[in-house]
Amino acid sequence: MSLPGASAMTSPGSLAASGPAPDRGVDPVLEIRGLCVDYGFGDDAAHAVADCDLTLGRGRVLGLAGESGSGKSTLAMAAIRLLRSPGVITGGEVLFHPRPASDGEPATTLDLLAAGEEELRAIRWSEIAIVLQSALNALNPVSTIGAQFDELLATHRPELGRASRRDRAGDLLELVGMTPDRLRSYPHEMSGGMRQRAMIAMALALDPQVMILDEPTTALDVVTQREILEELMGLRDRLGFAALFITHDLSLLVEFADDIAVMYAGRLMERAPAASLFRSPRLPYTYGLLHCFPPMHGERHRMDGIPGSPPDLRDLPPGCAFHPRCQWAIPRCRQDVPKLEPLTGSHREVACWLHRDNATAPPELMRPDPAVAQPRTAAVSDTSAERAV
Ligand SMILES: Nc1ncnc2c1ncn2[C@@H]1O[C@H](COP(=O)(O)OP(=O)(O)O)[C@@H](O)[C@H]1O
Ligand code: SF4
Ligand SMILES: [Mg+2]
Repeated sequence: MSLPGASAMTSPGSLAASGPAPDRGVDPVLEIRGLCVDYGFGDDAAHAVADCDLTLGRGRVLGLAGESGSGKSTLAMAAIRLLRSPGVITGGEVLFHPRPASDGEPATTLDLLAAGEEELRAIRWSEIAIVLQSALNALNPVSTIGAQFDELLATHRPELGRASRRDRAGDLLELVGMTPDRLRSYPHEMSGGMRQRAMIAMALALDPQVMILDEPTTALDVVTQREILEELMGLRDRLGFAALFITHDLSLLVEFADDIAVMYAGRLMERAPAASLFRSPRLPYTYGLLHCFPPMHGERHRMDGIPGSPPDLRDLPPGCAFHPRCQWAIPRCRQDVPKLEPLTGSHREVACWLHRDNATAPPELMRPDPAVAQPRTAAVSDTSAERAV
């Protein structure tokens, strides 16, 4: 069966962080290293993904956030070799580390960017699965949900007979809160939320190690969105897959992700444990994003937003691409591109000149990090910082 909506490749783990990231004992399932993707060629090329490093840890959830057009989908689709023309991967490697064999023998790591079609077919859907924003485009409109499950299982689990396939499909629907009688429905007979649930059930059908969720609930109302996300995270706890969860809404990730990476104009700009990023952002862009969306819980605060709009990737400003919109830019920001680098004494990374070479960052970007033990006096200011967020 052609993969509904996109395809799948997976492995369990957690979305953790990037590049030369500090070693936090993460057991990586997917490692993206130096990934570069362009749309077009030569001087007109848009550098949609520029030298990105990202590691997804086994069994964890890594959120990838950023405004629309920042390169999130391009990064994910390129990593699993589903990028469509005119996208071109111009550099990097994507290492998939399968589960160790049942006898404990370590499995062979595969570079997805160097793999042949045969190798990719073997891991898409069964090891790495993807769920996209629109299940309507992903599901076959002229087949029932049951027929689509049957085709998927018959292709990838040939040892199962028809009755076993039907039972498995029913179980999968129940897993995502649907009744097995929905197997007789066509996609157009179901609500948007149900279609998204059916897509998630299909993505789980082969027990993948990695789920890539690209704005999986963006088209849904907030109540359905929340229900589905809670179910998904419950499934992650039970089934142990890792998830790369992509969204433009940073506030969603704060509750569901273990780690969050923030992308701007094709580059990863900040990466931190979710609580640290939420309570104590170090990057002006992250700070702006946190003030764009109302939090799901807690006190109300003013929504300032971020002035201006994202740059044209074919004509990026010099230096830090965010500088024309950054309220705290310093002269160096207009000249040099900051690299994502570890922040001393923490499990986080940031690409910002305010945190380099003795520059002075504003108090808004220096709040105490909840993941780092604070001296007693600092703990007091942490409370006031939380109130302010
Ligand atoms: N098919 C395409 N042709 C040309 N440029 C594209 C295409 N798709 C995406 N891009 C460029 O890549 C950038 C990143 O797109 P995308 O990865 O979809 O961002 P996101 O998922 O963060 O919204 C866009 O801003 C656009 O400039
Ligand atoms: S490097 Fe400069 S322009 Fe970029 S986010 Fe930091 S302060 Fe702002
Ligand atoms: Mg996208």
